Amino acid sequence: MIKLAYLLDLWKPLLPEDIWAGKDLHIRVPAPLVQEVKDSLDQHMISYKVLIPDVQELVDQSMPRERSSHRHVPEGYVYTQYHPMEEIYQWMTQIQKSNSELVTQHYLGNTTENRTMYYLQISQPSNKPKKIIWMDCGIHAREWISPAFCQWFVKDILQNYKSDPKISRFLQNLDLYVLPVLNIDGYIYSWEKERLWRKNRSPHMNGTCYGTDLNRNFNSSWGSIGVSYNCSSEIFCGPGPESEPETRAVAQFIKRKKSDILCYLTIHSYGQYILTPYGSTTKPPSNSEELMHIAEKAAAALMGKYGTSYEVGPTSLILYSNSGSSRDWAHMIGIPLSYTFELRDKGTHGFVLPPDQIQPTCEETMLAVTTIIECVDQKYFPGGAVLLTSSSLGLSLCLSLESRIPEICPPGLAIT
Ligand code: ARG
Ligand code: ZN
Repeated sequence: MIKLAYLLDLWKPLLPEDIWAGKDLHIRVPAPLVQEVKDSLDQHMISYKVLIPDVQELVDQSMPRERSSHRHVPEGYVYTQYHPMEEIYQWMTQIQKSNSELVTQHYLGNTTENRTMYYLQISQPSNKPKKIIWMDCGIHAREWISPAFCQWFVKDILQNYKSDPKISRFLQNLDLYVLPVLNIDGYIYSWEKERLWRKNRSPHMNGTCYGTDLNRNFNSSWGSIGVSYNCSSEIFCGPGPESEPETRAVAQFIKRKKSDILCYLTIHSYGQYILTPYGSTTKPPSNSEELMHIAEKAAAALMGKYGTSYEVGPTSLILYSNSGSSRDWAHMIGIPLSYTFELRDKGTHGFVLPPDQIQPTCEETMLAVTTIIECVDQKYFPGGAVLLTSSSLGLSLCLSLESRIPEICPPGLAIT
């Protein structure tokens, strides 16, 4: 064990006590210390690899050079760049205006700094009861690929629902609720002040330190493991469960709708994982087989696009233990399918994924997410809408659909 008397920024794991021999360790070293740290590692014969030679350069590259005024109209909206919050707000307004038959924007709550949180609802008009898929992005400020994916997801569904029979099928039964940026204050701070900011911006200890880790702040074994009570820590869980307005806004809404929400998805980066509950205990959830099975289908679909490999499994076993996560909470209150996505990459660029990877990342993730949604649809709406038609065409469609189902989601999954 070497002792480095520097304050280094741990990227993986997030907590020093989670550092283990034989496991990867990612640290950001301030430029003036690089040689010293290298020498020290060499001296102690610890092998290492430079993943990112210049983090600042990457940061600069991920900031679009010029911001032209037409970028926020939906037709001209550039989904292959990262967008500041102001543009995402405008995008939300525009996308619902130009797709008013399908998209509505709704108030969810206010942030610590009193900004308005909105979610988008994608629903096809229908007179039968539907269920809900929830997806949020941007719990952690610096994980910019996450909000980029939520935007891509909405765009992709709107672009393709008419021509893609899979999408039109699940939209008959399921409404999609998308919160593009959960941690708005933190996201803005990461654009304007500190690119690698993670938490929200709540002041603590008379403003001597800022920010609660919103993914440690939910009411799921809050404060019990993988958290810090020190407000200057990256994984500060806050003064109490749901202490943060952002957490409360999401939790209250989801609680209100919980009997209709079949699936909770939360998008993060990085590491390439689809994580199942729980992070706060190694005890598997009652439907762990089903959770795993569907996640594996999703990972396989994702890999089919560009060969990107994802690891699937319970958070506490394959990544780290943490309490108070939104994923654990959603499952604990009774939402059967609850997953965290950790998008690209595996540490080469880490939190500063270059914009040229937005498109491939979103394309492959689309396949994973739509696979999950299809599974949900087939499980809760077996037979689907084609059963409603009685014509012979409908019947043969139905038969061919039925025979396709087992390949995607075999029957025999426990209904919870
Ligand atoms: N989005 C995750 C978090 O902030 C990242 C965890 C895995 N990656 C990592 N570099 N530690 O908790
Ligand atoms: Zn995260």
